[in-house]
Amino acid sequence: MSETTPKLRAELEGVPSYKPGRPATGTGPVAYKLSSNENPYPPLPGVMESVVAAAASFNRYPDMACTGLTEELAERFGVPASHVATGTGSVGVAQQLLQATSGPGDEVIYAWRSFEAYPIITRISGATPVQVPLTPGDVHDLDAMAAAITDRTRLIFVCNPNNPTGTVVRRAELERFLDRVPSDVLVVLDEAYREFIRDTDVPDGVELYRDRPNVCVLRTFSKAYGLAGLRVGFAIAHEPVAAALRKTAVPFGVSQLAQDAAVASLRAEDELLGRVGSLVCERIRVVAALREQGWTVPDTEANFVWLRLGERTMDFAAVCEQAGVVIRPFAGEGVRVTIGETEANDLFVKTAEDFRRSL
Ligand SMILES: Cc1ncc(COP(=O)(O)O)c(C=O)c1O
Repeated sequence: MSETTPKLRAELEGVPSYKPGRPATGTGPVAYKLSSNENPYPPLPGVMESVVAAAASFNRYPDMACTGLTEELAERFGVPASHVATGTGSVGVAQQLLQATSGPGDEVIYAWRSFEAYPIITRISGATPVQVPLTPGDVHDLDAMAAAITDRTRLIFVCNPNNPTGTVVRRAELERFLDRVPSDVLVVLDEAYREFIRDTDVPDGVELYRDRPNVCVLRTFSKAYGLAGLRVGFAIAHEPVAAALRKTAVPFGVSQLAQDAAVASLRAEDELLGRVGSLVCERIRVVAALREQGWTVPDTEANFVWLRLGERTMDFAAVCEQAGVVIRPFAGEGVRVTIGETEANDLFVKTAEDFRRSL
C-alpha cells in the first residue's frame, strides 16, 4: 500500500474541533442536559403530525428551494421572498456566508469569546480569524471591532445576544457601529436567541437590514421553536447576498421533515412563544437566585446564563455533573448553563449554592 495520503488543504490543520454540549448521562437518579441551549419542551403535537406526514415520502428528495417555508418566512417578516435563504441550521447558513465572501488572505472579525463555530468555519474557508476580546463586562467591544477592520476584512459576526455570555448590544451602539463599517464588508447579525430578548433597547436585526445592503440577519428554528434536531435556519439579506446563499447551499440540504415542521411551527408561533415566555420567567428566577447567593452573573437576554469561574470552571462542571446537571464548561474561563425545565433549574441553583458554600 502506498505511504502517501491524499493531499488535504493546509488550512484544516488549524481548525479547532466543535465540542457539542455533553449528553445527560449521569449515573445518579436524575440527569438533565443544560449544555446545548436546547429547548426543554417536547415537540408540539401539530408539529409532530407534520413531521410524521412528511416521513411518509422520504423516499423522495425535498423541495430544494424550500418554497413553502421561504414564502411563509417572507410573509412573517414582511420581506421579499428573494431576501430569504434557508439552510441546515443557522450554522450551515453561516458557513455558506463564509464560502460566499471569504478565502485565503481575507479576514473575518468576531468577538471572543463568542459562538464556538465562528473560528471553525472561518478557518475552513481559509480566511484569517480576527478575534476581538469582549469588554470586562463580557459585552461586544464594538469600537474595538470597528478599529480592527482592514482592507482585507470581508465579514464581521455580531452575536446578539452573545453565546456564551447572554449579553447584548443595544440599538444606538449597534447603529453607530454599522455606520462605521465600509459598505463592501458584510455584517452578519447572528440572532439565534432573538425570541428570548426582553430588553426593548435591543434592535431587531430585520429592521436594521432593511436599508443596509451589507447587513445579513441569521435566525434559527433550533432554539425558541424547538427544532434543533431537524436542522433548519435561515438568513434575511438583500440581493446579491441572498442569491449567493442559494448558490452555496448544499443541494437538498434541508429535509422535507424540517421544512414542514418549520412551517407548522410558524403557524403555532403563539403557543411556542408562550413557552419562550415561561423560559424567560425561569431565566429571571435563576439569575436572581444566583445573585442572591453572591455570584456575579452578567445580564442575559438568551436562554442561558454565564458564570465566569476562571480556574474553578472544571471543578464546578464536575460537581454539577455529579449532582445530575450537565453544563457547558469553557476551561479556565467559565460555564454556560442553559435554562431548562424547572426541576433542572432548581437542581442547578441548589448545586451552585452548595458549591459556593464549600469555597
Ligand atoms: C449564536 C449561535 N448561532 C447559531 C447557532 C446555530 O444554531 P443552529 O445551527 O442549530 O441553527 C447557535 C447554536 O448554538 C448559536 O448559539
